[in-house]
Amino acid sequence: MTPAPSAVQTPKPFKPRIFSGIQPSGGLTLGNYLGALKRFVEKQDEGIETIYCLVDMHAITVWQDPEKLRQQTREGAAAFIAAGIDPARSILFNQSQVSAHAELGWIFNCVARLGWMNRMTQFKDKTAGKNAEAASLGLYAYPSLMAADILTYHATMVPVGDDQKQHLELCRDIAIKFNNDYGVDFFPVVEPLIEGAATRVMSLRDGTKKMSKSDPSDQSRINLTDSADQIAAKIRKAKTDPEPLPDTAEALKDRPEAKNLVNIYSALSGQTVAAVLVEFAGAQFGTFKPRLADLAVAKLGPITDAMNRLMTDPAEIDRTLGKGAARAEALARPILNKTKDIVGMIRSGSE
Ligand code: TYM
Repeated sequence: MTPAPSAVQTPKPFKPRIFSGIQPSGGLTLGNYLGALKRFVEKQDEGIETIYCLVDMHAITVWQDPEKLRQQTREGAAAFIAAGIDPARSILFNQSQVSAHAELGWIFNCVARLGWMNRMTQFKDKTAGKNAEAASLGLYAYPSLMAADILTYHATMVPVGDDQKQHLELCRDIAIKFNNDYGVDFFPVVEPLIEGAATRVMSLRDGTKKMSKSDPSDQSRINLTDSADQIAAKIRKAKTDPEPLPDTAEALKDRPEAKNLVNIYSALSGQTVAAVLVEFAGAQFGTFKPRLADLAVAKLGPITDAMNRLMTDPAEIDRTLGKGAARAEALARPILNKTKDIVGMIRSGSE
């Protein structure tokens, strides 16, 4: 490849900056909370620059009823704020308001290779048992837009749950190929932050399946909008095995449902799995489940209450998202402009 003109500046070293997103394609679950949202708040509180996004353009890669999409985007924003995201300290917005995501996404569609996209397991999972030919082109290109979300801010770290690992590897590949193709050191190679006991919260009905907002069974998940009674009932009915809890994490290896409930307890309480097992070794689920339900209600109840309060003023949520979008745009635009210069696109205002 021909190297780009030497006028291109290298913004190294990259400033630590966090970006992450959640799809407003349904109500948020305990999985989203423990695997993502709770950790987003921790990162914000550590004082790192944090940018968080409701990725509505990703959501429409599968059909979304327009009124529901608006409602779920507001509800998602309310969940962020209720969980502790401060829109004055973090940037909080919805993706479609900042067109740099779509513009850089197109450029990355021309960097990413078909072979890379063909290896994406999430596309395969989402089309499994269905007619893949009828899936949207957007669903196929999804990970390339995700790379654009991150790289249009030169974000360096991305907190996510375990299911996003492959997408972040693709984001790294896109950054490396872009840099190589154009002979620049322009995009950072991001670091995935997949940490803690709850990087993969499993279904309450099947410990081998991920808890998901798109699972047809509402009993499989705890929603952030569930009442205390619903939470307690779902935990009471959660699938388990007949054995008491063991005294080591190792002994949970072949007990997916038991392991999942212990992991959830650990993540909600902030205790290590080992500490949870010291407390509950030998206990039956009849003892453990009510304790877990009490803990979940104590932690999630205030978030649900705050979400409900925030949702009474949708116009205020829209204003918050608008202000966040303006701040995001100010960061993204110069990076997108520079990308266009590197690629060789003429734009007014460029030399
Ligand atoms: P989404 O909307 O499916 O999930 C949002 C976040 O929640 C995490 N998560 C879980 N973590 C633990 N256990 C679970 N059962 C569970 N379910 C979901 C996900 O790992 C994710 O961190 N592609 C992304 C959205 C996205 C994005 C981005 C993320 C778009 N652009 C840029 C990071 C950076 C997604 O579908 O997330």
